[in-house]
Order: sequence, then C-alpha cells, then structure tokens
Amino acid sequence: MKALLINGSPNERRCTFTALEQVAKGLEENGVEAEIRWLGREAVRPCLGCGACGETQRCVFGDEDGVNDLIDSIAAADALVIGSPVYYAGINGSLKAALDRAFFAAGSRFAFKPGGTVVSARRAGTTAALEQLNKYFTISQMPIVGSLYWPMVHGTSADEVLQDAEGVLVAYQLGANTAWLLKCIAAGREAGFEPTQPEQRARTNFIR
Ligand SMILES: Cc1cc2nc3c(=O)[nH]c(=O)nc-3n(C[C@H](O)[C@H](O)[C@H](O)COP(=O)(O)O)c2cc1C
Repeated sequence: MKALLINGSPNERRCTFTALEQVAKGLEENGVEAEIRWLGREAVRPCLGCGACGETQRCVFGDEDGVNDLIDSIAAADALVIGSPVYYAGINGSLKAALDRAFFAAGSRFAFKPGGTVVSARRAGTTAALEQLNKYFTISQMPIVGSLYWPMVHGTSADEVLQDAEGVLVAYQLGANTAWLLKCIAAGREAGFEPTQPEQRARTNFIR
C-alpha cells in the first residue's frame, strides 16, 4: 500500500515538508509506503472551466505543467495527503490551481481513497485552509482522515515546526490513522464489501 503526499508549498523542504515528513513517518511505521511529491516553483495554469476534461479525464494543459502526471500519481496511490502553507487564510495559489484542474478532470478516479490534509502557518487561518482542502475530498467521495487535532503546524522554518510538539504529533498520528484506514478498507474489500454507486448520476444546476 502506498500513500502520495503532495507538498504544495513553493518551498521544497521547509515547514509544510517538515509536517509531511511526520505524516510519512506515521504511515511508514505502520506499514504503508509514503512518497512526498513537491509541486515545485514553476507557474501552474489555472483551470479554464473549458470542460474538455469531461470526455478525456485529462487536463488540456496537463502535460505542460505536470498536472496530468499528478492525476495519474494520485489515481495510482491508495491514499492522498495534501500539505499546504496558509496564504491569506487559504491554501497557496499554485496548489489551488493544480488541485482545481486535477479534481475537475479526474476526481472520479480518486473516489474512496482516504484523504488527509495538513497545513502550516505562522499564526492563523489554518482551519479555513484545512476546510478548503477537505472540500476536494468530500465532493470526490473520499473519506477524510482525522487525527488528535486538526492537522496544523506553526512556524516559518523547519526548526520552528519541530518545536510545535503537538503539531508534530498530530501530523504523525494523521499518517498512522491513514495506514489504519487503508488496512480496514483492504480487509473490507477482502470480505466482499465494495462501495455502491447510483446507476445514473443526476446533475442539476441549482433547482433546474
Ligand atoms: C503570501 C503569504 C501569505 C501568508 N499568509 C499567512 C496567513 O494568512 N496566516 C499565517 O499564519 N501565515 C501566513 N503566511 C506564513 C506561512 O503560512 C508560514 O510561514 C508557513 O509555515 C510557510 O510554509 P512553507 O515553509 O512550507 O512554505 C503567509 C506567507 C506568505 C508568503
């Protein structure tokens, strides 16, 4: 079993990465492989809402800036953990652009994979950013993994994050809980429990 951990921060190995390292430790010490994938610093184009992905489940821009590759990596993983720095009480811009496109194009490929989130802030805006991330999971039928507290760390450097003992433990436990849930899902599948889905999707624009 494998979990993909996305580091959405423009900083490769700073606060968000340090939090994700703890999540990875919690996963690996409980038997699940963890890969931390950095989104990088290059520009990520925004979703155009062009709808071309409705047919293909691929983003029209995906091969230019790696979003189609990200889609395939999420689809291949058993669980997804997304880490973001808090920017103005939300997630950072390039991560939002990538997630909008990946989930709009291929959210159905991610259904029933456990989803975890962790955010890093100097001070505030953490719960708003966590809520923003969790919205990608709940609209995609992905169970959200909880921890001992809402997963957040505080700091502006890796060292400061490591001083946040509660944040570090909560991030570790998020990884451990994700591993537990993956094992429960695998055991359920073995016993013949598969999710049910409607035969046809209804899709109305508000009430029409
Ligand atoms: C553009 C920008 C906006 C930020 N907004 C917030 C904020 O709303 N609340 C906060 O506590 N910290 C804010 N910060 C600080 C970062 O969230 C914080 O330092 C985070 O831990 C950085 O993570 P990183 O090292 O992985 O990039 C902001 C930083 C930047 C660059």
